Amino acid sequence: AEHMGADLENVLFTEEQIRERLAELAAQVWEDYHDKDVLLVGVLRGAVMVMADFSRALPGSAEMDWMAVSSYGSGTKSSGVVRILKDLDTDISGRHVLIVEDIIDSGLTLSWIRTNLESRGPASVEICTLLRKPEAAKVQIDVKYVGFEIPNAFVVGYGLDYAEKYRNLRVIGTLAEHVYS
Ligand code: PRP
Ligand code: MN
Ligand code: MG
Repeated sequence: AEHMGADLENVLFTEEQIRERLAELAAQVWEDYHDKDVLLVGVLRGAVMVMADFSRALPGSAEMDWMAVSSYGSGTKSSGVVRILKDLDTDISGRHVLIVEDIIDSGLTLSWIRTNLESRGPASVEICTLLRKPEAAKVQIDVKYVGFEIPNAFVVGYGLDYAEKYRNLRVIGTLAEHVYS
């Protein structure tokens, strides 16, 4: 594989910018959860990098679990109908759940996940996402912790993929046009 940086049009966020913003979010989250037993729920696979760095920026211990979901039907991720590929191993009844995501695009995935988790009787469900595209929103979601709001462009890196590639890129950037063609 060629050097991944060559496939980027623009770097939106450097490693340092991501690290600093996650540290700020972690401080904010800890203020709200230091006296609670928080369960971090990561959404596979995009959220892996955010979970790794965000969770380690928390000053205290936090439990972690994972869900994997996929859209039904068309293959586009915007159907809004979601199927669970891997459910939580944890019973979240009475628990304070914090969903950890890499990006909220249309909002359909997270909207469905939140409703699904809320039906299991948790004490609370909040959302922490590194990126959000306000212009792409198809559904209104109340997100308590947002790293960066970004324009409606295709972004990769730091967990975010294009056809499963670029997840391991250290920065977040927009893809160059030659990659599509
Ligand atoms: C991406 C991203 C979010 C979701 C956001 O996941 O990681 O989970 O899409 O899109 P939405 O707000 O329009 O629903 P994807 O379905 O590509 O799976 P992945 O995390 O395995 O890449
Ligand atoms: Mn995802
Ligand atoms: Mg993806």
